[in-house]
Amino acid sequence: MAVIVALLALLGGLAGAVTVPVGDNSVSGVSSGACTLHPKLRERIHKDVAWLDEIGGITDAMIRNISLVCDVNIRHQCNVQATRMMIKDGEIYLNSLHPEWRLGPHEFIGFLLELYETSRMHKLPDLEFAWNGNDDAADPAFTWTDRATLQARFHGGPFPILAWSKSERSFASLVPYSGAFRCSEDSFDNMMYRLEELKRVPWQERKKVAFGRWNLFCATYTYGQEVLPSGQRSICPRSYLPSLNSQLPQHMDILPLGSINGGPARGTPVPLLHQNAYRYLVSTDGWAISSKFDKYLLLGSLIIKAASSRKGYYYDALVPDVHFLPCMNESLGDIVGRVKWALQHDAEAQRIAEAAQAFAVKHLHRGARLCYYRTLIEEMGKRMKYTPDCANRKLCIPLGRFLEFLAANPRYAHSCRLQEVLIRYGVERSMPQYNASSDAVINELLKDPKHWPRDTDIPPRTVEPYFPGSRRRRHRQRRRRQH
Ligand SMILES: *[C@@H]1O[C@H](CO)[C@@H](O)[C@H](O)[C@H]1NC(C)=O
Ligand SMILES: *[C@@H]1O[C@H](CO)[C@@H](O)[C@H](O)[C@H]1NC(C)=O
Ligand SMILES: *[C@@H]1O[C@H](CO)[C@@H](O)[C@H](O)[C@H]1NC(C)=O
Repeated sequence: MAVIVALLALLGGLAGAVTVPVGDNSVSGVSSGACTLHPKLRERIHKDVAWLDEIGGITDAMIRNISLVCDVNIRHQCNVQATRMMIKDGEIYLNSLHPEWRLGPHEFIGFLLELYETSRMHKLPDLEFAWNGNDDAADPAFTWTDRATLQARFHGGPFPILAWSKSERSFASLVPYSGAFRCSEDSFDNMMYRLEELKRVPWQERKKVAFGRWNLFCATYTYGQEVLPSGQRSICPRSYLPSLNSQLPQHMDILPLGSINGGPARGTPVPLLHQNAYRYLVSTDGWAISSKFDKYLLLGSLIIKAASSRKGYYYDALVPDVHFLPCMNESLGDIVGRVKWALQHDAEAQRIAEAAQAFAVKHLHRGARLCYYRTLIEEMGKRMKYTPDCANRKLCIPLGRFLEFLAANPRYAHSCRLQEVLIRYGVERSMPQYNASSDAVINELLKDPKHWPRDTDIPPRTVEPYFPGSRRRRHRQRRRRQH
């Protein structure tokens, strides 16, 4: 079975022309040329690009305005906020770069690899867009203040920006968190190859314990959430849920990781691949959606997921009580009731766990993700109102060249399996930008932590309405200005 699934994932990559929707019972991916997606994933894409329709499509002025994200002396190193990209004649180009210090982790590199792979398997339409370099595409820049009047906090918005986590208030287009799906040792793809092994722990042998481990990130997303039906205000699940262990000590083991001197008890980490020893897994969001959630789906245990205003690209396809049990959706402490329910309804709990695993196997494998990228980019391409050209951009590094650069550099070479993609698909070298982007040139660009090519016509601003900053930072800035 694992072999068949792996094969499907690989075959899922083959190029084709038609895109057709499939139901929950079919498999997403590419077969005999057609790129098929779960209907809820197609709907997600259409929901996200609807922002672009409302603003009248993608224009050159809109793309240039993205440079304003990094306005005013690039105070906050905003070149990590958005990376601009172009697709022209099927080739992908980088029109801005992350600074060197942001390149090591697999977030950006995983995305680049998955995008590149998509472009090698299928000719993508001409397009300009940006990648959100922050974890979450939320406040301040990418959130709508008033959709009806198309008022965003950002200049002019919305514009095409891809992100792996957002709330419905953000105009970003959701894409997979490709780094977590394919780069790390315990990536989704690696876990899927070991599915048989994961299944070897039978349901009956899994401990009747709701297990949760996480880093204590509490993001602002909790503040955007509505008051719970119980009348309680939602609070950070990562700090709150551990306090409930005492209500069901035999069946709840929820603890934050790490240690703080004199702080409350902290949990010892358990490798993800061994967490299927527990019958119930508790999932919470941090700064953004949980990067572990996708992998939890594969583990074959019942997921109890804390409500969150944040979404990943496929979350719309998950049905509460069918693929997972929600918690913190009625009252702060409702998880205790959920665990009791699972203990008393063991067969139903198992069915939900199996449905989650089946969903992940069918719809989240690599071929399905690449099909999702392709469909999204084709939809965005339909909204282009001009023909992009490197001649109009200050920086235009072919993505293949950039991946070669990363693969040759010991600092980045092991962030993700770059060679797997480079060897398989090769790199197009015929465009003049290829020779112009030598390792030395790229190294020089990366050295400048505030590098951001501004090909905007709009002069720098003196205020940053879209990055107001914390009070402390504003204070610091004021002081700096005074001195
Ligand atoms: C770009 O930003 C400027 C300055 O805020 C704004 O006046 C203009 O409407 C924006 N243009 C587009 C196309 O978004
Ligand atoms: C919360 O989750 C429970 C358990 O799945 C469900 O029965 C209930 O309808 C949900 N409540 C709300 C308000 O969504
Ligand atoms: C790039 O450089 C190589 C080696 O110097 C050269 O053979 C090739 O013609 C150049 N290509 C372009 C498009 O300038």
